[in-house]
Amino acid sequence: MAVSIGAPDGLRYNSAMQTPNSPSSESGATRGGASNATRGIETLPRIALLATGGTIAGSAADALQTAGYKAGALPVERLLEAVPALAELALIEAEQLASIDSKDMSVDVWARLAQRIDALLARPEIAGVVVTHGTDTLEETAYFLHLTLKSRKPVVVTAAMRPATALSADGPLNLCQAVKVAADPQAAGRGVLVVLNNQIHGARDVTKRNTAAVHAFESPEFGTLGWVQDARVEFQRTVTRPHTVDTPFAVPAHWPIVEIVASYAGVSAAMVDGLVAAGVHGIVVAGTGNGSIHATLQHALAQAAAQGVAVVRASRTGSGHVMRDGAAPDTELGFTAAGTLNPYKARVLLMLALALEIPLADLQAHFYVF
Ligand code: SIN
Repeated sequence: MAVSIGAPDGLRYNSAMQTPNSPSSESGATRGGASNATRGIETLPRIALLATGGTIAGSAADALQTAGYKAGALPVERLLEAVPALAELALIEAEQLASIDSKDMSVDVWARLAQRIDALLARPEIAGVVVTHGTDTLEETAYFLHLTLKSRKPVVVTAAMRPATALSADGPLNLCQAVKVAADPQAAGRGVLVVLNNQIHGARDVTKRNTAAVHAFESPEFGTLGWVQDARVEFQRTVTRPHTVDTPFAVPAHWPIVEIVASYAGVSAAMVDGLVAAGVHGIVVAGTGNGSIHATLQHALAQAAAQGVAVVRASRTGSGHVMRDGAAPDTELGFTAAGTLNPYKARVLLMLALALEIPLADLQAHFYVF
């Protein structure tokens, strides 16, 4: 399903998509005030919008309901209708890639998303891509794309904390700002960006830190890359680690199985033993503090590592870095320290590295670099 706006006669739906309430393409209906012709439409950047669902496409019974709604319920054209001003910013080519609550994100959707973005960005006339996504696993998808896409053009992931039907829904402004950033030449070469709530985050560093607040996203170790407000996009720092075209990673043909376990008071070895018996290729441990691990769990993980399972030691604290040979003897036990990657992002990098059959002894170097 595809819809385009900003076409020379204003908002235009593919005829197959027209609904009784949709403006007809014959009407030449123009959204957002002055006609596109008076705004030099031929100079507008062309942005592809890929919708995957999430709260930004969420629908509730009434405008006061901001919990218990259905995520991913509304089609992409409803998101566009809520932001008539988009027609003034860009020529939008929109597609519905998926309609899911992002808690249900899968590697199959990741693969389709990455392949579709690369195909769109290979078209010279496409200036950038915006992805709408649920907030719950956004940070994982953004980092996966950051490591696997093969273009320097801007790719911006956005989302919303309140459903589209809510009073003061945050999705329309977030979408508008995401398009603004994607259309800005300054955004090129920074890898995948995450735009919400006036802030521009780098895909590697951003994480969701709140269950419900509109300001749920933070980049705890390094801060935002920049900000966007009204017509202004400003970057205040660069992205130093390699990404997109500068990584060896690709969408895996076969995805390694990597799971996450946590260390906590009284933890048993049952989960690690079960995972090893199930044939996992890697385990990320969300350790306490500086990635320290309960002795029972550490013993089980050391046995797993001895059997060839990749073990990566991250922290459950939500910020800070995990030092190699700091809170556990990584070199002796054959573990890898996750550095500043949280457990979920460490899992993404580990899957991609294992898919390339990088030797376990070289994993630490990859965690230092990416
Ligand atoms: C989701 O992640 O799809 C639901 C929650 C959200 O988008 O805020």
